Amino acid sequence: MPGIVLVGAQWGDEGKGKITDLLADDMHVVARYQGGNNAGHTIIYQDKVLKLHLIPSGILYPHIISVIGNGVVVNPAVIVQEMDELNELGISTENLRISHNAHIILRCHEVLDGLSEESRGSFGLGTTRRGIGPTYADKAMRVGLRMQDLVYPRILEEKGRLLFKLKNEMIAGLYQAPPLDIDEEMEKLRHYADRLRPYIDDTSLIIKSALREGKNVLFEGAQGTLLDLDHGTYPYVTSSNPTAGGACTGTGVGPRDIEEIIGVSKAYLTRVGSGPFPTEQSNEIGEAMQKLGQEFGTTTGRVRRCGWLDTVLLRYAVRINTMTSLAVTKLDVLSQFDTIKACVRYKYGDELFEEFPVHQEIFSRCEPVYVDMPGWGIDISEATTLEELPPEARSYLQFIQEEAGIPVKIVSVGPERRQTIVIDGGERRLEERKFLFQDDLPL
Ligand code: IMP
Repeated sequence: MPGIVLVGAQWGDEGKGKITDLLADDMHVVARYQGGNNAGHTIIYQDKVLKLHLIPSGILYPHIISVIGNGVVVNPAVIVQEMDELNELGISTENLRISHNAHIILRCHEVLDGLSEESRGSFGLGTTRRGIGPTYADKAMRVGLRMQDLVYPRILEEKGRLLFKLKNEMIAGLYQAPPLDIDEEMEKLRHYADRLRPYIDDTSLIIKSALREGKNVLFEGAQGTLLDLDHGTYPYVTSSNPTAGGACTGTGVGPRDIEEIIGVSKAYLTRVGSGPFPTEQSNEIGEAMQKLGQEFGTTTGRVRRCGWLDTVLLRYAVRINTMTSLAVTKLDVLSQFDTIKACVRYKYGDELFEEFPVHQEIFSRCEPVYVDMPGWGIDISEATTLEELPPEARSYLQFIQEEAGIPVKIVSVGPERRQTIVIDGGERRLEERKFLFQDDLPL
């Protein structure tokens, strides 16, 4: 029955793509449960760079059914482009299934995302401007367009035109920006509907059938725990639920269908966009992490803010997701430091916080309390077992494990598959593939 959730323990970009790849051999279905084209992976496939924002990376494996769950918001232009790019590389998209209940990102949502960010000025959230928030807002307002509306031309015509009319009123009335040409947008939608119709399916049933047959299903979260709309650092969050519970609501399975929850955490911490970040290093340490960890965006050019690992946040992520184990990524990036720091408590006035404080006021003004640990100072990127790691690196992993209260089962020490340490019973099947997960897509 095993349903396994893979969830980011931080603010996204933890390197979930590589971990999905490690688990893929044993999976029958890989399902994305939330987010949209605000996330993704960069994959090197036969010397070509492939950027997948929306289609689950399961598509690279012919034995896997790739599901886009109902909790995902789908931009038809983006998904069709990704399908074309995959097909051009000779990768079939036959095994792609899109939930009939997934909501659709339209041009008006992208425009409104940008206008809303601009009108907020210095209070902007630093969104990816991909229309994510406005699409989820329409879902909650019950005016959104869903994938199933693409199936019947009459319904598409009615609902599509109504939505564009409502959104044009906002664009032109509220923001005094030029409204969209509705006929033109509807024409595009009809074209995408023809392309996507064959892929629209009852994905909840597909997943349940696989689970019933005892097959493995991987529920792949985008972004991370701290970007969760309910449990993250609101308002500097995304508009969906990346946390493990989102796997249920976002695909149509129940909590009892989930057996394992693997949290992915970098050995340090990064954040894109605005919002508090207690352990941020706006100095040469942060710059060194950025440089060696390649923490900058090739898509939007945005640099990821970098800082030391924060175990207050990590413990919170373990709790909120009921994680069963951890995958620690990019440990090699810390090899350059003589001393490694990690935050274990927050200090606010005279008060010490062991748990993530509920008040944003405290989180945004607290001082991190650090422990210092000796660095290892040597290259660890070729280590394939725990024993091959220097004692200081092993101690650091032990520290993470103790603070988190769950075992570290996977450690990544470089981008290649072979640069992975699988701990404790996990099988090491790390033969090179035709493709390589280079990074989570920098946005
Ligand atoms: P939105 O998801 O585009 O609405 O952006 C809301 C916040 O989430 C912004 O701070 C983004 O930078 C952040 N965000 C969204 N997707 C990702 C991601 O995949 N990695 C890191 N940050 C993200």
